[in-house]
Amino acid sequence: MADIILKTEDVMIKFGGLTAVSGFSIEVERGSITSLIGPNGAGKTTCFNIITGFYKPTSGRVFFKGEDITPLEPHLVCKTGIARTFQNIRLFSGGTVLQNVMTGCWVRQKSPWWSAPIQLPSFRREERQMKERSMSLLGAVGLEKLAQETATGLPYGAQRRLEIARALATEPELLLLDEPAAGMNPQESLELMDFIRHIRDKFKVTILMIEHDMKVVMGVSEWIRVLDYGQLIAEGTPADIRTNTKVIEAYLGKEAAGKAEAR
Ligand SMILES: Nc1ncnc2c1ncn2[C@@H]1O[C@H](COP(=O)(O)OP(=O)(O)OP(=O)(O)O)[C@@H](O)[C@H]1O
Ligand SMILES: [Mg+2]
Repeated sequence: MADIILKTEDVMIKFGGLTAVSGFSIEVERGSITSLIGPNGAGKTTCFNIITGFYKPTSGRVFFKGEDITPLEPHLVCKTGIARTFQNIRLFSGGTVLQNVMTGCWVRQKSPWWSAPIQLPSFRREERQMKERSMSLLGAVGLEKLAQETATGLPYGAQRRLEIARALATEPELLLLDEPAAGMNPQESLELMDFIRHIRDKFKVTILMIEHDMKVVMGVSEWIRVLDYGQLIAEGTPADIRTNTKVIEAYLGKEAAGKAEAR
C-alpha cells in the first residue's frame, strides 16, 4: 500500500466573496516529486499557505503523516516536519548566508531560550553543532564559499538555493517549493532539475513544487496536479498532462486546445 505523507480533504477557502480554492483533495506519496501547476491566480500558493498553517481553510482538513494539522500555527506545522520556500524570496536582509541557514536550525533547538544570554556550555555546544550542520547544508547546495556574504546580495539563483538550505535546516520530511525556478537563467533552471532530485535523494524528503517553467515541471515531476480557478482539473504523469485537453485549454484558451486536439 502506498505510504501517503500528505493528504488534503475537500479543502476550501474564501476571501470575502472570492472562493480562491475549493474541493482541493490530494494525496502525496512519501519520497515522490509532485508538481502543482496552473495559470496565474489559480490558487497554488494559497494551497501551500493552507498546508503550512499560514491560512486556515474555510472548510476541509489537512493531514500530515496521518495527523490532522489543520489547526496548527505555522511554527508548529514546521516542527511536525513540513518546510517551505516562498514565491517572493524571504531572506533576512542584513543577515549573512550562514546566519540565514542557522535560523532554520532553531526549530530543532533543545537548549531553553533563557540559556542564550548566559551562554551555558550546553547552549554553546548546540550553537557550534548548528554552525557545523549549517555549513554542511551550504555545502550541499553549493554555497559554502559564500557563507559570510550578505544573503540578499546574492544573485537570484543562489538566493533560491539558500532558501532551500534554510528549509532543510528545519529537518523536514516534506519540502514545499514555491516557484524555485523563478528568476533563474536557462542554465540555472536546467541545473535546478538535477538539484531537486539530489535534494530528494540525499535528505530523503518528499517534494511538492509549484512551478511555471514547463521544462522543469516536465523534467523532474513524477506526478502533476493542475489547478484552474481554484479547482483541480487534471492529474497524472508528465506525459498525461502534456496532452490533456483541459490543461491546454486552461493555459491557452479553448480555441488553441481545439487546434491541439485536431493535430
Ligand atoms: N490573503 C488574501 N486575501 C485575498 N485574496 C487572496 C489572498 N491570498 C490569495 N488571494 C487570492 O486568491 C487567488 C489565488 O491566489 P494565489 O496566490 O494562490 O495564486 P497562484 O496560483 O499562486 O498564482 P501565481 O502563479 O500568480 O503565483 C487570487 O485571486 C488572489 O488574489
Ligand atoms: Mg503563487
